[in-house]
Amino acid sequence: MTQEHALHTGEQVRKQTAVYVYEAPVRLWHWTTALCIVILSVTGYLIGSPLPTMPGEAIDNYLMGYIRFAHFAAGYVLALGLIGRIYWAFVGNHHARELFLVPVHRISWWRELWHEVRWYLFLEKVPKKYIGHNPLGQLAMFSVFVLGAIFMIITGFALYGEGLGVGSWADQAFGWVIPLLGQSQDVHTWHHLGMWYIIVFVMIHVYLAIREDIMSRQSLVSTMIGGWRMFKDDKPD
Ligand code: HEM
Ligand code: HEM
Repeated sequence: MTQEHALHTGEQVRKQTAVYVYEAPVRLWHWTTALCIVILSVTGYLIGSPLPTMPGEAIDNYLMGYIRFAHFAAGYVLALGLIGRIYWAFVGNHHARELFLVPVHRISWWRELWHEVRWYLFLEKVPKKYIGHNPLGQLAMFSVFVLGAIFMIITGFALYGEGLGVGSWADQAFGWVIPLLGQSQDVHTWHHLGMWYIIVFVMIHVYLAIREDIMSRQSLVSTMIGGWRMFKDDKPD
């Protein structure tokens, strides 16, 4: 779907093109997942570095219990959301597949990746426009976020299986991860490190989304809210 508008700005007439890119399930998944990551990081950090001992009787305090509950609930939403997102890659439009299918076999994709690196380092003057993800964003979203989230889900449910107990569904499905990585404490450490891997992605991702929105004469953040990408023409202001 494409729409064109003529924008009357003072004396000039500017052309603005809009293309429908991200369907509702993709947008809903993006913001739900973002919220889960915030909850998981805050509660996970507190699980790893617990608050000082609570005063009074243990029976009167369930703070760590609530923190762990929020972590596990957000963990379930993250995992089920990712399964739903993978389903949508099959049934949605072709932009829904970009997150999982990185075209590393295309030379032109590598060339554009290099252009994006230079553009983000302020070494290129003219931005390239993309209807879906740009190559650098696509590479980071797949290799850092998708693979990172899968790693966190597998190690998270392995730890969760320890809590549920031997023979529980999580122990049967993910218990093998614990001996594979050593013992329980090793899984905790890798799960903890994985958090920082994802947090670094989020910091760069949010900075670049906002920077690109301002500098590249195409909409970014509103595209992830409303679905439409707006392209303004290239005349400087
Ligand atoms: C990106 C997502 C996630 C982040 C950032 C995250 C973060 C963390 C962190 C930092 C810890 C503390 C590790 C330590 O130092 O001991 C932790 C513990 C844990 N996480 Fe996650 N986690 C995520 C996903 C999940 C998922 C999907 C589950 C599955 C239910 C999960 C279940 C657990 C469990 C069971 C523990 C140990 C709780 C305990 O020992 O009391 N996590 N998480
Ligand atoms: C924990 C926080 C976040 C995570 C884990 C995250 C993750 C992701 C992922 C995986 C995608 C790819 C979506 C897909 O193809 O299905 C994406 C796209 C996007 N995100 Fe986020 N995001 C987060 C927060 C934010 C925030 C706060 C903003 C706004 C400032 C934002 C703006 C965008 C935009 C604009 C896109 C589309 C970029 C493009 O069209 O190439 N994200 N994000």
